[in-house]
Amino acid sequence: MSANNEGFIHIDDLDQHAADTHRPTIAERQRVDYREIAKEVGRLGEGKSYFIRTHGCQMNEHDTEIMSGMLEEMGYRPAKDMLDADFILYNTCAVRENAEVKVWGNLGTLKPLKAKNPNLIIGLCGCMAQEDVVRERIRVTHPHVDIVFGTHNVHVLPSLIEQAHHSKETIFDVWDAAHEGTIENLPKVRKDDVRAWVNIQYGCNKFCTYCIVPFTRGEERSRLPEDVVEEIKQLAEEGYKEITLLGQNVNDYGLDLGNVDFADLLELVAQVEGIERIRFTTSNPWNFTDKLIDTIARHKKIPNYIHLPVQSGSSQVLRRMKRGYTREEYLDLVNRIRTRIPDVALTTDIIVGFPGETEEQFQETVSLLEEVRYEGAYTFVYSPRAGTPATRLQDDVTEAEKKQRLYRLNEVQDRISFEQNQKLVGQVLEVLIDGKSKTNAEVLQARSESNKLVHLTGADELVGQLVHVKITEAKTWYLRGEALPQGVQV
Ligand code: 5AD
Ligand code: SF4
Repeated sequence: MSANNEGFIHIDDLDQHAADTHRPTIAERQRVDYREIAKEVGRLGEGKSYFIRTHGCQMNEHDTEIMSGMLEEMGYRPAKDMLDADFILYNTCAVRENAEVKVWGNLGTLKPLKAKNPNLIIGLCGCMAQEDVVRERIRVTHPHVDIVFGTHNVHVLPSLIEQAHHSKETIFDVWDAAHEGTIENLPKVRKDDVRAWVNIQYGCNKFCTYCIVPFTRGEERSRLPEDVVEEIKQLAEEGYKEITLLGQNVNDYGLDLGNVDFADLLELVAQVEGIERIRFTTSNPWNFTDKLIDTIARHKKIPNYIHLPVQSGSSQVLRRMKRGYTREEYLDLVNRIRTRIPDVALTTDIIVGFPGETEEQFQETVSLLEEVRYEGAYTFVYSPRAGTPATRLQDDVTEAEKKQRLYRLNEVQDRISFEQNQKLVGQVLEVLIDGKSKTNAEVLQARSESNKLVHLTGADELVGQLVHVKITEAKTWYLRGEALPQGVQV
């Protein structure tokens, strides 16, 4: 049998599980093995350097780690300064206009570099590349860009670089949809050596009316649990302590595979020895089953922390956003989670100024923050994205008013975050030390279960360890603490 008495799948029984439940096995699933592609890739980067500028979410950050891996296998080395690099790549985000504006500005400044170094290759990839309007603008006003590729085909980067050496024209290689299945065994140069990201799912099927992601990242596709577990076992062997499972909508993990869900995957990952913390993002309010809540509650390795984007506190706005839940249903979910995980920390995402949002509807968002009392919130002004349904909605709220709402909302959340943090003073938290503080080399930097930044003093040997810390001071954005001597019972 592939499941034990409690119904969990055993990490060594995944083949049997696939056979029992008729989900695809590694042999049956269409998947491309990057190691096969790599055999054809030459050492074109020998003696050359690369620089990647990354915008957007953790998914993009992780794609950059993958592309760095591919480039370093080609012989490229990282450049300290973009101005010295032989290959400059912009890995872009399309979720809001301001991220795009920055990229256009930066691309413009690269033109003179080409005159200085005719061998320089400039690339643009990521979510912006999936947009027709972006590719058209590159054609017309930015012909100095050499290669443009999208979110579905990062694995073709080496061949595009090779083609760029022989081409005077911009090479566009953007796919509308992903390859069937997934690309496996991609090389990675990870940014951190304590914490690592692991893709579990790509794409999004939800089509919220403001969001460009379903257009730029395509349909939901899950990696096989075998592939995810294998990657994490490898990471444990390399000494990583914390992993973050990445997907646009992790609760939907496995829907396309059948007979395996996100809770099952968490159970499997929790069996990997050596990994001390398992995080995940983003878990949306859909499909947040009691089974999933119980799994989070049961495992010490899974922090009692959930990022649960709500977007608005008004049921009418939520309907126009097509979020598929009302304010009451969301609050009911929060309640279900808090009943089973009483000390859970919650954070959220909010959009203010959605088309037609009235002052009363905005106030419902403010009252939701007061009611839920999140540890923190990522807040944004609505940004119209070409091709998304919300751009067709009538909008009589001025930009100035929208900015005001953002400011007012942030004031409320900052106060709540500060108050929540104050409650921690005097408490002992378990933190994972991930390195030295970026601003003060004397200070170590750590993360609490709820992903709060904690500064403490201690020996460098503590990096990579879970330690207990007594919180001595709390600010809005971080905490300060003192490490308890190891072995002290708490
Ligand atoms: N305008 C503003 N914010 C947006 N987000 C997504 N699309 C938009 C948009 N068009 C925000 C949502 C999402 C987060 C990643 O970005 O809050 O959860
Ligand atoms: Fe930005 Fe969304 Fe693309 Fe991430 S998936 S880079 S947030 S548009």
